[in-house]
Amino acid sequence: MNQWKNKRQLILAIESSCDETSVAVIEQGNKILSNIIATQIESHKRFGGVVPEVASRHHVEIITNCIELALSEADVTPDDLSAVAVTYGPGLVGALLIGLTAAKAFAWAHHLPLIPVNHMAGHIQAVKFDAEIKYPALALVVSGGHTELVYMTSATSFEIIGETRDDAVGEAYDKVGRVLGLDYPSGKIIDELALNHQGTINFPRAMLNEDNLDFSFSGLKSAVINYLHNQKQKGQTYEIGDVAASFQDAVVEVLVAKTLKAIAHYDVQTLIVAGGVAANQGLRQDLSQKMAAQYPEITILTPALRLCGDNAAMIGAAAYDLFADSQTNLALTAKPSLTLA
Ligand code: KG4
Ligand code: ZN
Repeated sequence: MNQWKNKRQLILAIESSCDETSVAVIEQGNKILSNIIATQIESHKRFGGVVPEVASRHHVEIITNCIELALSEADVTPDDLSAVAVTYGPGLVGALLIGLTAAKAFAWAHHLPLIPVNHMAGHIQAVKFDAEIKYPALALVVSGGHTELVYMTSATSFEIIGETRDDAVGEAYDKVGRVLGLDYPSGKIIDELALNHQGTINFPRAMLNEDNLDFSFSGLKSAVINYLHNQKQKGQTYEIGDVAASFQDAVVEVLVAKTLKAIAHYDVQTLIVAGGVAANQGLRQDLSQKMAAQYPEITILTPALRLCGDNAAMIGAAAYDLFADSQTNLALTAKPSLTLA
């Protein structure tokens, strides 16, 4: 059982699971002293997606600088810290290993406990910077690699009660964006187009009426591709904004309906929406309207927009709850396919 070294309970957190190198200093699990996020998006854009080898190289180049910057911005020295936290999965193995190696070296050199953190638990705990989570909680976790409904009775107990059977929702946004000729990542661009256009095309709502909490987005992606192909073959034009709005309508309707279905079956005090796609304005609006009408007693927590994407602050927040039982295991390795439960 670890004891906090000092009252400030400072954790240095490191995140490198995909295309952001991020290092943060977090106080008492819910206060951000620094949160350095070095994004690699410009390097991956021209390939239309993240190239794992390129991601690893960027992480190696910049991780040490990010650690130094996070400490100096927080105005702390390694002696002030109580622990080091690091994402060990899920994610790209090469990318994870860079953050993991840096975290292990730092923890060893400064005699600090090392706390391994699941990236998805980090996304969920990102809401802690604004409010306390009351359990039991339901988390709709929507990112580039995941689409899950997670039931939680405490900060460290997870039950996956629904998940995608194929593509993750963020992945569908990025693939549809690609066929629409939009930059990678396309989620934010599609969201902005959708807000100013009409959903005039009726794309399929997969698994909407099925008696389960699972999702499927690959059919929707194919439906959009087929629609564009048919229009071109017929020599007809289409408005990109209307396609974006129609696609987003289909995504949001299914995400919201399945979340409400989960709430009807489980005892829930807090609804958390987390992950990169939690930044989606259409999803936030529709979910809060329907929740206010049907479940006004349930609190909805979404991370601040800048904390929806990958960042180390959320890893520090999740690590706080794991501190007491953590041990410095220098044999810790990356788990690219790590799950919550
Ligand atoms: O959580 P995240 O930063 O990385 C992963 O762990 O995957 O999520 C990135 C995903 C990308 O697919 C991106 O297109 C999507 O989140 N995204 C959005 C929005 N902002 C980012 N999708 C829909 N609407 C947005 N506003
Ligand atoms: Zn993520």
